[in-house]
Amino acid sequence: MGEIKRIGILTSGGDCAGLNAVIRAVTHCAVGIYGWEVLGICKATQGLMSRPPQVMFLEINKVDPLLTMGGTVLGTTNKGDPFAFPLPDGTVRDRSEEIIEGYHKLGLNALIGIGGDGSLAILRRLAQQGGLNLVGIPKTIDNDVGITERSIGFDTAVNIATEALDRLHFTAASHNRVIIVEVMGRDAGHIALNAGIAGGAHVILIPEIPYNLENVYRHIQKRQTRGQDYSIVVVSEAVCTESGELVQQTGQFGECRLGGIGQYLAEKVAAHTGAETRVTVLGHTQRGGTSSPLDRLLASTFGVAAVDLIAQGKYDQMVTWQNRQVVSVPIAEAIEDYRVVDPRGTLVKTARGLGICLGD
Ligand code: F6P
Repeated sequence: MGEIKRIGILTSGGDCAGLNAVIRAVTHCAVGIYGWEVLGICKATQGLMSRPPQVMFLEINKVDPLLTMGGTVLGTTNKGDPFAFPLPDGTVRDRSEEIIEGYHKLGLNALIGIGGDGSLAILRRLAQQGGLNLVGIPKTIDNDVGITERSIGFDTAVNIATEALDRLHFTAASHNRVIIVEVMGRDAGHIALNAGIAGGAHVILIPEIPYNLENVYRHIQKRQTRGQDYSIVVVSEAVCTESGELVQQTGQFGECRLGGIGQYLAEKVAAHTGAETRVTVLGHTQRGGTSSPLDRLLASTFGVAAVDLIAQGKYDQMVTWQNRQVVSVPIAEAIEDYRVVDPRGTLVKTARGLGICLGD
C-alpha cells in the first residue's frame, strides 16, 4: 500500500443537496486527520480532461460554509461520457486517456467520485483502464442506487416535495381544485411515494404500479361526494400515459427530458370529473438549496468513510448505508443493483392502508 499524499474529489451527474457537505467532510478528515492534500476537480471528469487540469485546493479553514450550501462548488455535468465525448461537429471521441493522464499529472494517489449509478459506472471504467485508485460515494435524489438504503440528496428532495404538498393542500381546498404535483425521480417512484405519504396526497402515481384513470376519477369523485371537494395528486415524472408512452421532450443537446405527465393528467381529470385542475411541476427545486439534517449526516458519514477506505488501501469500493451503519461494497456490485419501488413493499402497503389511491 503506497503512501498517500494527495487525493482528488469530484462530483458527477446531476447536482443535489448535500454534495458540498461531502466535500467539507472529506477535506476535514483527509487534511485534518491524515495530513493529506485534497484537490477538488472541477466539472466532473472534464476538469481532468482540461490542460492544465482544472482544480481547486480544498483547505480546512475554508470549507466550513459548505455544510449548508446547496449545489456543488466543484461544478458538475450529466453530459459528456468521456468514452464517447461529443465534439462540436456532432461526432464523438474517446477522451478517456486524457482523463487518466490528468489524474497522473496531478500526482493523485486516489480519487473520490461522488455520483449516481451512471457516473460511478463511467468512473469505474476509467479507474480499471488507467489504474486509478477510486472510491465511490452514492448521491441521487432518485434514490435508485440499490445497494444503499439512502443516497445523498434524496431526503432533501423528499422534504422539498413534502413542503410543497403541505402548502398546496390549503390553496387546493380554498378553491375546490384538483392539484397535480409532478415530481422527479426518473424511472423510480421513491420521491413520489415518500413525499406523497408524508404530504398527505390523495392519489400517488408511480412508474412501478400500472394505473387505470377510471380509478383516479372515482377516487376524486368519492372525495367530492364526501364533502372533501379538493384533491392532491402526486405523479412521478416517468409515469406513462394510459397508452404506455413516456411524456418527454428532446433537450437542446438531443437528450431525452422527462416531463409533462402532470399536464396530461390534469386535462384528463378536468374532462372526466369536471373539477378545476392545476399543475405544479416541482422540477429542479427538488435538487436545490440547503440540505436536510439527514442528508448532512449522510454526507458527513460517507465523506469520512471514503477517506478511511483510502487510508486502508481499499479501492474500487463504494460506501453505502445499510442497517444503521456505513459499509463498503465493490462498486461493480453496487451499481448492478438498480432499485425501484417494490410494489409489495412497506410504503406501498402503508399508502394503501391510508386509503391513498395508487391508480390500480
Ligand atoms: O437523476 C436526477 C434527476 O434530477 C432526475 O430525477 C431528473 O429526471 C433528471 O435528473 C433531470 O436532469 P436535468 O438536470 O438534466 O434536467
